[in-house]
Amino acid sequence: MLTIKSVEHVMEAWLKLKRQVPMRGAAALEELTEVLEQVREALPDWRREVPEARGPYGRRVLFEAPWAELVLIHIPAGSATCIHDHGASIGCGVVLEGSLVNRLYRLDEFGYPLLRGERAIAEGGEYAAPIGQIHQLANPGHSRAVSLHLYAPRLSASKTYYLYEQVLDFVI
Ligand SMILES: [Fe+2]
Repeated sequence: MLTIKSVEHVMEAWLKLKRQVPMRGAAALEELTEVLEQVREALPDWRREVPEARGPYGRRVLFEAPWAELVLIHIPAGSATCIHDHGASIGCGVVLEGSLVNRLYRLDEFGYPLLRGERAIAEGGEYAAPIGQIHQLANPGHSRAVSLHLYAPRLSASKTYYLYEQVLDFVI
């Protein structure tokens, strides 16, 4: 498909750049966000690729290599992802349709997630996730939300966290 070929073109160009000038820390996250913007432009007909939501959300991998992963996410109205981190990957995302709330968490002394803040992301808005960030993307609106996410390297060892109240529900 033409659009996916265009995405591959952007990703291969990025890989060449990464080999020449490897970035670390905040610079790497900034670079990732710039690549995401180029990828977004290379996907004018992303609507054709939107995955159906099975469970709380739908997920379609558009590009995958050991050094990066590009994913299209569909979160239906009233739904949310689980609370999770991204393992050893940095990540960023842009909202293509609808709006999302990015809830940020920290762990308490027992390892349970505690909400430390949240930020609304309107259509066209972006978020960035440095290594170690624990978050949940929620769609409290009345229509679907679709977002495009880029991770580097490819997601692996991503961890899911449950609120203390949820764990309590399991045992009682
Ligand atoms: Fe995430």
